Amino acid sequence: CGIVGYIGRPEKTSDHAALDVLLEGLRRLEYRGYDSAGVATVSAGSVETRKKAGKLVNLEDEIASSPVAESPVGIGHTRWATHGGPNDLNAHPHLGDDGKLAVIHNGIIENFAELKAGLTAEGITFASQTDTEVAAQLIGHHFAGDAAGDLTEAMRLACGQLEGAFTLLAVHADQPDRVVAARRNSPLVVGLGEGENFLGSDVSGFIDFTREAVELAQDQIVTITSEQLDIIGFDGRPAEGRRFTVDWDAAAAEKGGYDTFMEKEINEQPKAVEDTLLGRTDADGRLVLDELRIDAEDLKAVQKIIVLACGTAAYAGTVAKYAIEHWTRVPVEVELAHEFRYRDPIIDETTLVVSISQSGETMDTLMAVRYAKEQGAKTLAICNTNGSTIPRESDAVLYLHAGPEIAVASTKAFLAMIAASYLLGLYLAQLRGQLFQGQITDILADLHSIPAKIEQILDDSGQIKQLARDMAETPSVLFLGRHVGYPVAMEGALKLKELAYIHAEGFAAGELKHGPIALIDEGQPVFVVVPSPRGRHSLHSKVVSNIQEVRARGAKTITVAEEGDATVEDFSESVFRVPETQPLLMPLLTTVPLQIFACALAAEKGYDVDQPRNLAKSVTVE
Ligand code: G6P
Repeated sequence: CGIVGYIGRPEKTSDHAALDVLLEGLRRLEYRGYDSAGVATVSAGSVETRKKAGKLVNLEDEIASSPVAESPVGIGHTRWATHGGPNDLNAHPHLGDDGKLAVIHNGIIENFAELKAGLTAEGITFASQTDTEVAAQLIGHHFAGDAAGDLTEAMRLACGQLEGAFTLLAVHADQPDRVVAARRNSPLVVGLGEGENFLGSDVSGFIDFTREAVELAQDQIVTITSEQLDIIGFDGRPAEGRRFTVDWDAAAAEKGGYDTFMEKEINEQPKAVEDTLLGRTDADGRLVLDELRIDAEDLKAVQKIIVLACGTAAYAGTVAKYAIEHWTRVPVEVELAHEFRYRDPIIDETTLVVSISQSGETMDTLMAVRYAKEQGAKTLAICNTNGSTIPRESDAVLYLHAGPEIAVASTKAFLAMIAASYLLGLYLAQLRGQLFQGQITDILADLHSIPAKIEQILDDSGQIKQLARDMAETPSVLFLGRHVGYPVAMEGALKLKELAYIHAEGFAAGELKHGPIALIDEGQPVFVVVPSPRGRHSLHSKVVSNIQEVRARGAKTITVAEEGDATVEDFSESVFRVPETQPLLMPLLTTVPLQIFACALAAEKGYDVDQPRNLAKSVTVE
């Protein structure tokens, strides 16, 4: 879910009306969920709410037909449904018993049934089935009782009773000069303005108004007024937040001439990879990753690496495994974060746990990192979002610097994650003396030539877009790859599922004959990610054999192959060419045509590629 809060000066001395700030923030945060949206504002001793199922535009229509009074204070929410269907009633905000308190919530309150029973016994009646309303009623109950009309204290007392993960924002008609927010395991940042302050799930919630921000720690409550912010812990003790300045501006989060964020982000990939590599080598061509903050001796002592991630990030993790193992000879496991901590994994102080997450907020990944830390592992985050929870809780962080990624399905962050993983692998190899400096310099030089090569693929994308249009009615597509082409095949299939709602599966090409080949029938489209013919281990000829196996059974094969690889011509209906690079670096190129294909096919079907159905960019529940 996305949450936003605002307070300016009363009597219209502020630059902004709360409603404008809230709607703008929700527009930018809509990628975090779009099942419903709602706002609450406070004016003249009362709270006004508007909420609507569906995308933000429905809420905007509602407000246009039923305007709210001008107000300098309010909260807003865009929902990714967990408990309760995506209807108007379950949309946030939820109100307290007397209608004077409005609350929005991101997360899940686990003990809501028990709390609800207690409140019901005291005579409080509930309007919805949601856990959020329980939080609202609980805060309202304390406000009217032991907190004696102090919203911050009411929030604090309520938080002491809540179990689970939550960010809560509250406004009260009797204290119209403040917004109070609390966080436990769910994201929240404060934006600092002049005579106005902001709250957001992430900085994009207020990037139009300020780039100065403050991050909070777990179990803290922040009270913002137009002039100041006060942070306390759930125990009531005063606390300090960490200030930071956002290193991108609002323009970076606009479509900039493209029809969709997805197209923009696919086209930004040369820059995303370049920015990930930027400033990480010294004049002698040695990698410098001082920002890692893990002692060099500890990194040298690492005996095993475990990569944890979900979704697209997990496929970047598989590429990382192939590269890091090859360069460092340290064993690397890759695991879906949500599977990891439930299987009693073997971890100790010599284990380096590398989490990969664009948002830095994915709850499954966060919980796995915490578990690893508790077991004594060193934790390193590869992440795109400054101020987010996973890097804040890790021992070290390697930021991607890919800029904001707005489209829900990841593209540029995926390539940036892979590039960052290469840097980590090479850095460990350098530190541990596993590669000669000359080898590292050569690989880095190849890496630096990648952005121009991606540009070339983007420039020549007409043919793949045409194929996508021609294939719009295809019910199923398979993707095959070997070695680093395997995670690329998985990612190609995932993009097609996410964007075009087409059944798609990725396989390790060698596994095909052990079962999936039964799926092949006359005309079945199969994408094959072909390794370089210049690589080792005759991998190329093995993949060419796999192509022949599927063709013999009627498949229509579409290959992604290196320029100059003539062998594939005879076995492909279509060939998409990528420039030459080292075999291990190929995913930075071979992924791109598959992204373009999925995006163009979904657009042909008339789907919203930026906000595919049922998904959210940042899933902050387990
Ligand atoms: C969600 C998104 C995916 C994303 C995954 C991991 O499920 O829909 O596109 O790959 O989360 O996100 P992260 O922010 O941790 O990279």
